[in-house]
Amino acid sequence: MKKRVLTGITTTGTPHLGNYAGAIRPAIEASRSADVESFYFLADYHALIKCDDPARIQQSRLEIAATWLAGGLDPDEATFYRQSDIPEIPELCWLLTCVAAKGLLNRAHAYKAAVDQNNEAGDDPDAGVTMGLYSYPVLMAADILMFNANLVPVGRDQVQHVEMARDIGQRFNHLFGQGRDFFAMPEAQIAEEVATLPGLDGRKMSKSYNNTIPLFSSSKELKAAIARIVTDSRLPGEPKDADDSHLFTLYKAFAPAEQTAQMHADLAAGLAWGEAKQRLFELLDSQLEQPRERYHELLARPQDLEDILQAGAVKARAIATPFLAELRDAVGLRSFSQAAPGSEKKKPKKAKKPCRVVSFRDDSGFRFRVLNAAGEDILLSVAFADGRAAGQVLKALQAGELELRQERLQVQVLQAGEVVAQSESLADEAACQGVLQTLQDLAAE
Ligand code: TRP
Repeated sequence: MKKRVLTGITTTGTPHLGNYAGAIRPAIEASRSADVESFYFLADYHALIKCDDPARIQQSRLEIAATWLAGGLDPDEATFYRQSDIPEIPELCWLLTCVAAKGLLNRAHAYKAAVDQNNEAGDDPDAGVTMGLYSYPVLMAADILMFNANLVPVGRDQVQHVEMARDIGQRFNHLFGQGRDFFAMPEAQIAEEVATLPGLDGRKMSKSYNNTIPLFSSSKELKAAIARIVTDSRLPGEPKDADDSHLFTLYKAFAPAEQTAQMHADLAAGLAWGEAKQRLFELLDSQLEQPRERYHELLARPQDLEDILQAGAVKARAIATPFLAELRDAVGLRSFSQAAPGSEKKKPKKAKKPCRVVSFRDDSGFRFRVLNAAGEDILLSVAFADGRAAGQVLKALQAGELELRQERLQVQVLQAGEVVAQSESLADEAACQGVLQTLQDLAAE
């Protein structure tokens, strides 16, 4: 089964080495695996929450797009797009905002930190807090749930947001799914070893600490930055504890295992810090040389970048547009011609559901299954090439539009003469009748 992997990168800065090793590089590597479908996007709506400088937003989007492509992301393989090119995302964000508990968002770390700071300063608790900051996790949930991502590679600070996406998605499923799970439950994925690369001073590499190592600047600038890495004062010849050195942590994030072990041993044997820095420089410079060149080529052709991202948006919307249509329908935003007003009221509010429908994917494709009130499988669909096709057949079944038929002791569902779902071979005639009745009830629900 292909897993959907999705991650966004907020477009407020220029990617540094920590971003590259911690997020971009592992994501690009993962996108090459045959058993994943990757969705990578520029979270430029999120950027607006943190930054009100249009020039910086624009420059950062350009640089980040170029960084991912220079790093080797293949836009034909992955779906690579800008969040702001997908109008379905803010629309879904609103649907989710209407089910997200305010109490849940009150607990978001970023919001709480802002409130704590205000309290400490004796200000109004919400001073300087925009609704954008407050609702940040809901927009992120929309990013994730729009594409039913299974895995979300993120930094540790974002894990809570992924959990909130689960929470909000579950709530929506429960309220509007009628037994169907619209949204898959995403899981956060942290690349443990490199998740927080240390910066020059040993603290987490971050622009806010001003301790970053540039990614695609010149060799000379790279060398200058590495020279500023803080080490202890042990002299050449004195044994050095590699595990206590962030220079070594940086080295380890890029060097193969054997080379890392060598460095570890050499430091223990007294390698000079200056020499260790030179080795780190050579390692990074050789690994970054090619992508650096590609990066500058890409930046020189912004129209090509634009075209790549527009093509990505088309791919993303091929999924988002029909899915959002289903979600709008689920919450009751439907064409007036579709159903008589008030028709839903006929359903008793707490009617016992005769059965439940589950959509899922397996090796052959997208399927759904129907379970009766007792939770027993009564029907399994054939595999469909995409979730949309499976969803449409399911909808037709639920609308009572499909033919039900009994073939010996098996119940079959047909669409245009083709079997699209069937039961197992059942014990007796009564069992067949039971399944047929349940499916009719499903349509009448
Ligand atoms: N909030 C994430 C960050 O700052 C970026 C982001 C936005 C994201 N939407 C996302 C990450 C969806 C993963 C999935 O790093």
